[in-house]
Amino acid sequence: MWNDRYNTPAYVFGTEPADFLVAHADHLRPGIKGLAVADGEGRNSVFMAQRGVETLAMDMSANALAKAKALAEARGVDVTHVEASITDWDWAPAAFDLVVAVFIQFLSPPARDAVFAGMVKTLNPGGVLMLHGYRPEQLDFGTGGPRVVENLYTEALLRESFRGFEILALESYDREIDEGVGHSGMSALIDLVARKPG
Ligand SMILES: C[S@@+](CC[C@H](N)C(=O)[O-])C[C@H]1O[C@@H](n2cnc3c(N)ncnc32)[C@H](O)[C@@H]1O
Repeated sequence: MWNDRYNTPAYVFGTEPADFLVAHADHLRPGIKGLAVADGEGRNSVFMAQRGVETLAMDMSANALAKAKALAEARGVDVTHVEASITDWDWAPAAFDLVVAVFIQFLSPPARDAVFAGMVKTLNPGGVLMLHGYRPEQLDFGTGGPRVVENLYTEALLRESFRGFEILALESYDREIDEGVGHSGMSALIDLVARKPG
C-alpha cells in the first residue's frame, strides 16, 4: 500500500522537515548518530543530516527510499538508507544517540510495543528519543493518519511506554499543518522528546 502511494514523482509528505523536528532541532547535534525510523521520502533524515547528525534512515518502501536518496543528493548531504520492515528491524543495543520517529502510527498496539522497546534498546544511555504523531482526537479532524483509534498516542501511553526516561517535552496540541498532501489541515498532534537514563 505504501509503496503504491509513493509511486508518483510528487513528495507525498513534502520535502521540508516536520515542524516538530524543527521546533526541537537543538537535539540534532553535529557528530551524533541518529536513526530515522519509517522515514519515508527523506524529509526528516535530510534535515538531521543537514544539522550534522550521522544519519541512518530506514523504511520498507523502495519507492520512498528512491526519493529519499534523490532528496539527500539534491541537498548535498550523506544519509545511509536501508530498506526494511520495522517489525524485523535488528535493534542493536546502544547504537544511536538519537531516534526520530515521525508519524509511524501504522503499528498496531502489540507491534508498537515491540518497536518502542526496540527504540529504548537501541538508544545509548543519555540518548534522545523524538516521537511525533496524532492523538485520538485526530479521528474528528480526518486530515491524515490512521483511522484506527488504538494506534494513536495519548500522553499516558507515551509516559508508560518510556517509563524511566527523562521527559524533556510532552505536548498535546491542535495545529494546522501543511506537510504534503499526506498530512494537511487542522490536526490533533502529540510530541514527545525524552532522554534515556544515563
Ligand atoms: C505516514 S508515513 C511517514 C513518513 C515519514 N516518517 C514522514 O514523516 O514523512 C509512514 C511511513 O511508514 C512506512 N512504513 C509502513 N509500514 C512500515 C514497516 N512495517 N516498516 C518500515 N516502514 C514502514 C511507510 O512506507 C511510510 O513511509
